[in-house]
Amino acid sequence: MDRIRIVGGAKLEGRIPISGAKNAALPLMIASLLTPYTLTLDNLPRLADVVLLKRILGNHGVEVTVAGKRASQDEFEGDSVRLTAGEIVDTTAPYDLVSRMRASFWVIGPLLARMGEAKVSLPGGCAIGTRPVDFFLDALKALGATIDIEAGYVLSKAPSGGLKGGRITFPKVSVGATHVALMAASLAKGETVIENAAREPEIVDLADCLIKMGAKIEGAGSSTIHIQGVPSLSGARHSVLPDRIETGTYAMAVAMTGGDITLEGARRDLLGSAFDVLEEAGVTVEVTNDGVRVGRNGAGLRPMNVTTEPFPGFPTDLQAQLMALACRAEGSSKITETIFENRFMHVQELARFGAKIHIDGRTATIEGVDTLKGAPVMATDLRASVSLVIAGLVAEGETIVNRVYHLDRGFERLEAKLSRCGATIERLTG
Ligand code: EPZ
Repeated sequence: MDRIRIVGGAKLEGRIPISGAKNAALPLMIASLLTPYTLTLDNLPRLADVVLLKRILGNHGVEVTVAGKRASQDEFEGDSVRLTAGEIVDTTAPYDLVSRMRASFWVIGPLLARMGEAKVSLPGGCAIGTRPVDFFLDALKALGATIDIEAGYVLSKAPSGGLKGGRITFPKVSVGATHVALMAASLAKGETVIENAAREPEIVDLADCLIKMGAKIEGAGSSTIHIQGVPSLSGARHSVLPDRIETGTYAMAVAMTGGDITLEGARRDLLGSAFDVLEEAGVTVEVTNDGVRVGRNGAGLRPMNVTTEPFPGFPTDLQAQLMALACRAEGSSKITETIFENRFMHVQELARFGAKIHIDGRTATIEGVDTLKGAPVMATDLRASVSLVIAGLVAEGETIVNRVYHLDRGFERLEAKLSRCGATIERLTG
């Protein structure tokens, strides 16, 4: 199994190209199920989750081809991928595929809307909490679907004339349930109103793509979305938006090591409050013509007090990375996780570097330390894993990060991007 070896201490200097966002790419790919015509996605990141989703979509009959020019190994250019669901050959998403990635559950929306039925295994995914699917099922019921759960599968059926527009009010903001409601309502008859919708940039990206395909959607990016269903959708071409979590992760890496990095293609507006938090901690952030420049000179980091929230609040997907950073702040920081109930698994691994973190319920108190010391570590989810990489970049001596497959789910060529900027980091294979 691959591992990442890091020798900490180098400042980061240079440029890091930001890839297409994993969490936009996945719903966009799934949207290809809504139409028999070709959906072309540019700037698709090369990630294990994208490869897995290609397989899952292939199982339903989607033909996937990589179009246009492929970038060479070090150009870091995303793929252009053509997805054509000419005919849906299977409306079942089986356990062995869905259990590996929670987002694959989202195929339930387009399959049900286009084919009138879907049988989808209850999902798996990162070990960050219980992550139920009740909001999805209630949303589909609001569009007229009947739902049964049998032997670990959700069996859903549309009424005889197809899904009907309805009012969906989410009790809590859910990114995935909003994606599914958007896709399903686009092909339902009549108007759907989604209330307490997620406002994440990835929702706006999906809505933009659906609109290009002929959907009638207003209000994406706000809490209330109106959708007028259309009988069919066409093909389209769409470029995946830049990855805000990758952006924030490298911003925190340079905040940690010191130095000066331009995050090429990054957009500050996609980060909600995360850059504000870094600025308050003493990091400089400047929007440039080609991205965002982030730096920290010799000055120390001020402690932080942060609570994760739906967009535009501080994202849960940057919580672990911020915690690594807080380990080096001058004083005591507090981080409260409100989205997932079990997203502190990185704490005991950060302790292996010498971090001082105390957990009380949903809040972690982090006492900054002068030095972190390299260690062998591993994590059980993607963002926790990358927080260990960030800690390793500043820790004295050698760090080995095990279970690299988590990183490969969400970070394209992590070690290449960092080593180009002066970090001592390499992948040990086998
Ligand atoms: C998306 O997950 C992201 N995944 C996650 O990123 C991200 O952490 C999360 O949104 C929050 O921003 C993708 O986009 C592929 P939710 P999702 O539904 O949609 C509860 C990463 O590292 N809930 O917004 O699964 C749920 O338990 C990943 O890239 C219900 O109770 O998250 C959680 O507490 C990890 N019932 C809250 O809502 C439901 O039916 C928000 O979850 C659905 C959700």
